[in-house]
Amino acid sequence: TAATYKEQYRPQIHFSPKQHWINDPNGMVYFNHTYHLFYQYYPKASVWGPMHWGHAMSTDLIHWKEQPIALYPDSLGYIFSGSAVVDSNNTSGFGKKGKIPLVAIFTHHDPKGEKAGTDKFQNQSLAYSLDNGNTWTKYKGNPVLRNPGIKDFRDPKVMWYAKEKKWLMTLATKDHITFYSAPDLKNWKRESEFGLETGAHGGVWECPDLFPLKVDGKTYWVLIVNINPGGPNGGSATQYFVGQFNGSKFTPVDTKTRWLDYGPDEYAGIIWGNTGPRKIFLGWMSNWEYANQVPTEKWRNAMTIPRVLSLKKVNGELLLASVPVGELKIISLAPQTAATAKLSAQSVLKKITESLDDYTITLSNDLGEELLIGYDKKANQYYIDRTKAGKVDFQKDFKGRFVAPRYARTKTSDLTLVIDGTSVELFADGGLTTMTAIFFPNKPFDRITTKGIGLQQTALKSIWEK
Ligand code: FRU
Repeated sequence: TAATYKEQYRPQIHFSPKQHWINDPNGMVYFNHTYHLFYQYYPKASVWGPMHWGHAMSTDLIHWKEQPIALYPDSLGYIFSGSAVVDSNNTSGFGKKGKIPLVAIFTHHDPKGEKAGTDKFQNQSLAYSLDNGNTWTKYKGNPVLRNPGIKDFRDPKVMWYAKEKKWLMTLATKDHITFYSAPDLKNWKRESEFGLETGAHGGVWECPDLFPLKVDGKTYWVLIVNINPGGPNGGSATQYFVGQFNGSKFTPVDTKTRWLDYGPDEYAGIIWGNTGPRKIFLGWMSNWEYANQVPTEKWRNAMTIPRVLSLKKVNGELLLASVPVGELKIISLAPQTAATAKLSAQSVLKKITESLDDYTITLSNDLGEELLIGYDKKANQYYIDRTKAGKVDFQKDFKGRFVAPRYARTKTSDLTLVIDGTSVELFADGGLTTMTAIFFPNKPFDRITTKGIGLQQTALKSIWEK
């Protein structure tokens, strides 16, 4: 209906489902000029429940069209997170009549097994599609990777490792990562483990990813590990490691804990498959601390803006930077230059500063509610403060001021804010520091004032089809 996507708190430039609950992005793959986005979905209520894979498609990463549900729970359990690959060589044998199969590799979570107290209730399974992801057939031989007795055994991310002509699975196994390989997506062999002694361990490891990125002509491998709880600003968050991968084993260049996004509201983020050297990242724009309680009822939760990842060398350290995809330009209107301006619900704000000093950017409404975004020179930190941003008391940990270190050593800095009706994403210093936070003002924030910084504002058109 015309009212859909115009409701209070409805994101306008971010993907959210027409109705009901979503969490992690799943099965992201680029195939036949289409970006596929599957996601953890409960079609019966706006709270977490028996998981399905919902589905949306886009040709530009910005305009999304929701599709019929791709995967339903079955006798082996709920459909938890996982990935999808284009099996061009038909190694799986699922291809027929020359049709290339799209293969989904996901976790079957058996609630009965969990209740019965066994440790083996999460196993990895397959489904395939021969019609561009429209309809899916589950593999009769499921599960293909059985649980060896580790309670948390899930979220397979699979890629083709061309050098050795094998599929590589990165799997979250409780408090570490286990790598597996298979020639055919069916017969998985354990390769190695990583992480028992490295990284943050304030929670369970979930939704990992592994991919190569080049810096100064040299290839490194980035290992993403989502963790819940134990994030830098509480609850769930995305950490990463940079290192070498030899086809079997991941070796980090150092053992520092680093976060892809320091804000409270980016989780379960991983990248699209099959996009070549361009690595496009998408996260769930929420936090397990309060995802079930945020004050929307028709639907709950949304995805971040898709982001392009790159590796940068800063003072001898290898850091992962992220910036919004260039496709965002499709929906920008002409820039306004005023520093104090009327804020439209969806905007991108940009600034190249000459020298970096304390600054504050305030989004507000005439109820006196406000969201503060800024830089604190003494602490050398960026921050987002939603303490007075409207509805904050629906859960005890929502309210707060969140901080992120500045990594760049330059005297000048650049800042991009992607602002939607209920979210802000901060990208500072070419994306070396990134923060995402959601908020729920009682009236839309329609003013922006700045102190210590001038900003150029680009308004964005609403992207939802009416
Ligand atoms: C992460 C996660 C995954 C799991 C899914 C269940 O947010 O807990 O580990 O597969 O959500 O919905």
